[in-house]
Amino acid sequence: MRLDKYLAHAGVGTRKEVKQLIRKKHVRVNDTIVCKDDMHIKDTDTVFVDEEEVYYEQFVYLMLNKPEGVISATEDDEYETVLDCFQNVTLPKGCFPVGRLDIDTEGLVLITNDGKLAHKLLSPKHHVEKTYYVEHKKELTDENIEMLCNGSVVLDDKIVLPARLDRIDAYSSFYHIKEGRYHQVKRMFHVVNNEVTYLKRISMGPLTLDEELAIGEWRPLYEDEIEKLKAI
Ligand code: URA
Repeated sequence: MRLDKYLAHAGVGTRKEVKQLIRKKHVRVNDTIVCKDDMHIKDTDTVFVDEEEVYYEQFVYLMLNKPEGVISATEDDEYETVLDCFQNVTLPKGCFPVGRLDIDTEGLVLITNDGKLAHKLLSPKHHVEKTYYVEHKKELTDENIEMLCNGSVVLDDKIVLPARLDRIDAYSSFYHIKEGRYHQVKRMFHVVNNEVTYLKRISMGPLTLDEELAIGEWRPLYEDEIEKLKAI
């Protein structure tokens, strides 16, 4: 792979920025300062920028605690996107959020450039469970919970899959759903004449939001988290 492409993909900067770095002699391959951006990098080569080793990874897996007001898209003219939350890093090309959270929903968003894994997580075939922390306007009755969970509600002409709900207190619950329909949680609470006042995604399959991450913060996934996701 060309050196400039390698550096850009590794997140060092845009193609233009890394070309500048190379020209200004900030880049070393093994023991040699390199000035040619089209130099071919082999698997055995080690690349440094200002003495810091640059690791090239084909895929990245990042966990973001999405803030309210940010949209689950890769670019937008009006709103900040989940990719804008990654300040001071250049993400490799092709990163996108796996699944959508509404603009006013907070919590777990997985960002990756691994399309195959994303497809698996989102595919209706796999029924990956998502857990939401929900605050609601009214107390839930047993009948409401039955309705939210028993799979008899129809949304968009299709019956909703069975779900689970754990009451936390009168006005908050954990709701575990196995689909990702448009505004699903909010619409299901409307079905039972209730209203979601706050929504946060806590988990997606085996991946749970790191409680240490403040709103708007992110971290790379640990190896064991990636393994578990791939094992779905
Ligand atoms: N359900 C919703 O209603 N909103 C979300 O953001 C996610 C699930």
